[in-house]
Amino acid sequence: MCGIVGYVGPKQAQPILMKGIKRLEYRGYDSAGIALLTDSGLFVTKAAGKIIELEKLLANSTVQSNRGIAHTRWATHGEPTTLNAHPHTDNTDEIALVHNGIIENYRTLKSFLISKGYTIQTETDTEILAQLIRFCYKGDLTEAVREALNQVEGTYGIAVISSEHPDTIVAARMGSPLVIGDGDGENFVASDVSAMLDHTNRVVYLDDGEIATVTSDSYSVTTIQNVKISPQVEEVGWTLDEIEKGGYDHFMLKEIHEQPTTLRNAIRGRLNFEEGIPRLNGLNLQYDELREIKKVIITACGTSWNAGLIGEYLLEELARVPCEVEYASEFRYRSPIFDPSSLLLAISQSGETADTLAAMREAQKHGITSLGLVNVVGSTIARESDGGVYLHAGPEIGVASTKAFTSQVITLSMIASLLGRMRMVSVQQGQEIIQYLEDIPSQVEQILSNADQVEAIAEQYHKADNFLYLGRGINFPVALEGALKLKEISYIHAEGYPAAEMKHGPIALIDENMPVVVIALKDPVYDKVMSNIAEVRSRNGKVIAIATEGDTEIAEKVNHVIYIPKTYRLLTPLLSIIPLQLLAYYIAVKRGCHVDQPRNLAKSVTVE
Ligand code: G6P
Repeated sequence: MCGIVGYVGPKQAQPILMKGIKRLEYRGYDSAGIALLTDSGLFVTKAAGKIIELEKLLANSTVQSNRGIAHTRWATHGEPTTLNAHPHTDNTDEIALVHNGIIENYRTLKSFLISKGYTIQTETDTEILAQLIRFCYKGDLTEAVREALNQVEGTYGIAVISSEHPDTIVAARMGSPLVIGDGDGENFVASDVSAMLDHTNRVVYLDDGEIATVTSDSYSVTTIQNVKISPQVEEVGWTLDEIEKGGYDHFMLKEIHEQPTTLRNAIRGRLNFEEGIPRLNGLNLQYDELREIKKVIITACGTSWNAGLIGEYLLEELARVPCEVEYASEFRYRSPIFDPSSLLLAISQSGETADTLAAMREAQKHGITSLGLVNVVGSTIARESDGGVYLHAGPEIGVASTKAFTSQVITLSMIASLLGRMRMVSVQQGQEIIQYLEDIPSQVEQILSNADQVEAIAEQYHKADNFLYLGRGINFPVALEGALKLKEISYIHAEGYPAAEMKHGPIALIDENMPVVVIALKDPVYDKVMSNIAEVRSRNGKVIAIATEGDTEIAEKVNHVIYIPKTYRLLTPLLSIIPLQLLAYYIAVKRGCHVDQPRNLAKSVTVE
């Protein structure tokens, strides 16, 4: 959600920290702040609004400092005002702290601190933690942080500095990611590796309950209970190019266009044509174990949940394994029935979504093997799952997920055909699916080459107030995802519906002002979908159809057609979603919306 960066070393800290939080702006962007340690004490500057507001305040700053912390915020407790922005300081202005997460018992701690004479200035839970660290301070910053955290309930990723310890940043993690960056004569802390990729690709991921003491030439890690940990340095595979816009106007457009490459990366080295079988070694499951699976539970949030729904169609049809798809936020609160012969798939781009992680932990507690379908290497779900498949989509910066979605769907297709081959799918059928999978990236390329056509349709409808998206069968979740994309970035109210279900409610909304996007592919439900289109047209609704190449007849029955190439029926979501991503993008741009940082949203939701 929020972004944290800390620097300690020989260089000027301010430009490093500002560049770092700008790289994290996609994680939260309602206010920002920086604290620098100088010879005359702490220098703190904060601003409500995007990071550019903070930059304006710092434009003429002459502060010299080689260490500091910075933060970009997505508000939970307290409005996104300058006062509530991080860093927060204690009453003596000696300790500054930035925080991601929520301190659940902050009210109790606040009353306690007030009873001890502390004055609380802000509405945030974070200030309470800064004051509590001061209360616990007896000369050793790490010990003060440890003692304070032992009294805290909730989640946190924090970085703390103190004017009493000018060469040190203390960082700690519980439920909110935090990474140490191992540089040459300089060190970093951040909530996300992209904040420090300009300087180092060597990182140490902190685990929950760990505290790091970081100086310019060393770092050490202990647990909250003061047990020493040996830090494991890992190398990050992402490059700087991948986290920059590369000539595109927005990250979202870049990421939409990267899909031929990211899909190739997702299947590379994983398809064995001879045996007609995908090879997914990271699952850590033998063929006989895969055969024993009686049920698959998929849990996820947002776009990843929509991908999971497509997974349900794939798994049930290809492998005949019963599958249920659960919103991770609901899963734990409805006493799910845990059967040890079930397999749980946790789908998450970030690998950090709090609800998905909690759902996975709950399943593991009940002895359910849990696999992660995750994009971010080294993320918490990736590390805590019993196995899984990395999506290899590269960093996704646009808040609205695009390339991670198609990588999730192609990965689910591989898992379903693997499970299918363990059961009733023949070698020949398996080989056919592999052939279709291999063709998908170039078919996506072909659709993207017609982006102008989608842009022209967007021009016509970008002023609409409502949109309806309809699909049937495996393209029903694509309708959901198309609607989600549009509402996330353009703020147009959009709903996805199973096409036939339209008659049971949404049809009441249809008139000449209602654009209806219908996925009407040449598949067994084509005729049914065409009847649904007729129902829309007879009420003067405007139909934008996604149709199969060669279906010329449909053009007479709808207002606009966008064609996609033919593929295996169960793989069509990988193609039908592409024009819907482009449509949402162009509509949002034409409405003047901030495509990469839509209002109120955050890329990675690390609070429940
Ligand atoms: C947020 C993002 C969505 C994303 C969802 C799940 O809501 O804005 O784009 O789909 O979280 O995120 P995950 O990282 O678990 O896939």
